[in-house]
Amino acid sequence: MRELDRRDCSRKVSLRGAIRLPGDKSITHRAVMLSAFGEGTAEIVGYLPSEDCERTVAAFRAMGISIIDTSSGGTLSLKIEGKGLRGLSEPKGVIDCGNSGTTMRLLTGLLAGQSFFSVLTGDASLRQRPMGRIVAPLRCMGAEIMGRSGGDLAPLAISGGMLSGTSIRLPFSSAQVKSAILLAGLLASGETIVSEPGRSRDHTERMFRYLGIQCEEKAEGFSVVGGRAFKNKRIEIPGDISSAAFFLVAATILEGSEVKLKGVGINPTRTGILDVLQRMGADITIHPLSSSRHEPIADLTVRSRPLRGILIEGALAASVLDEFPVLCIAAAAAEGETVIRNAQELRVKESDRIETMAKALRGMGIQVETFSDGMKIRGSRQWRGTACETKGDHRIAMSMTVAGLRTDGENEIDDMECINTSFPGFLDLLSELRANT
Ligand code: S3P
Repeated sequence: MRELDRRDCSRKVSLRGAIRLPGDKSITHRAVMLSAFGEGTAEIVGYLPSEDCERTVAAFRAMGISIIDTSSGGTLSLKIEGKGLRGLSEPKGVIDCGNSGTTMRLLTGLLAGQSFFSVLTGDASLRQRPMGRIVAPLRCMGAEIMGRSGGDLAPLAISGGMLSGTSIRLPFSSAQVKSAILLAGLLASGETIVSEPGRSRDHTERMFRYLGIQCEEKAEGFSVVGGRAFKNKRIEIPGDISSAAFFLVAATILEGSEVKLKGVGINPTRTGILDVLQRMGADITIHPLSSSRHEPIADLTVRSRPLRGILIEGALAASVLDEFPVLCIAAAAAEGETVIRNAQELRVKESDRIETMAKALRGMGIQVETFSDGMKIRGSRQWRGTACETKGDHRIAMSMTVAGLRTDGENEIDDMECINTSFPGFLDLLSELRANT
């Protein structure tokens, strides 16, 4: 990855031009996982070649699945030879999920229903993140999973076996937990039903339907019938709206900017960031495109515009958790106060994002108050450059890079490599847009 010149990062600039974002992270994980279980060859077009997704690819290779990179002429693609529901082989070593919570949580569901033993671990951050939320419901289906702290912390050791379909009502909304259960349900006997109080991202359900897996939205929740083979298909991955968020905020807060983001996924369970920015006064135009068959996509055009602070709570807060770090930068640029509440989940993301962002913003001279479940940010015109500790969190590094385009003086970011977790090429795209000014 080419690093931006540090001095460039701290000059006030504007962004102009059109870019295509890398593939959606959540959808790439699911496409790889489900294609390994389908029958025949799958082609995954526009996949995300980030470190998190590479962990999922490596895990399936370690279980005997052939995954070949068939990218050509600027189009990224993978060819996966599916082996059906029972085709995986026991991995010979520990599966390292790196920084990827999605890899660990979804794989645990899939591995619980295999006929072999497996162990999952991750980096220091992932080994501190809660796993009891998937282990408990999977145990209700008959899964045998051991881990530190009674199964709440990785490494997790999974003695795979036959699972029984069960109806599970989750007390909270989580796409990773819901998906772990549905993926376990794919292998379980009978019907598995899962419901949650709010609507988390529904990429797993959409991909189930697209691949012809026997599933249904029922009054009690989303249902899947286990043990039914399905055929692989070509899967197109839309651009990641969570990656688009960095450019939506950057172009909004940098005067004189106009940026077009092409082919972005606009699944309604992911567009909270558009709602929030528009409520803050952002100028974002959505041009819907024909759908990629399982996910809606659009080109987004964003122009710079002054923002105002707002209150973000309840379902709206839940819909922008991944975009919270860069929303903090939008809030710091807004007139007045922005308050985010009901977002305690931010404490257990790749870092404690409330603390990490509060420290970074204070370093920039922004007034911040933290709560157990959120933060209050007072917008300011004066930002000073600061030394920023990312805690190895990719979204903190990118958010502070965006902020550095508007600070007086440099933003010194301690770890830029972690950006590869979700967005290789981020700095190149940023340079491309700046080159057009
Ligand atoms: C993800 C679900 C979300 C999100 C995470 C990716 C997924 O977490 O924050 O980055 O791919 O399923 P929840 O499980 O809390 O919904």
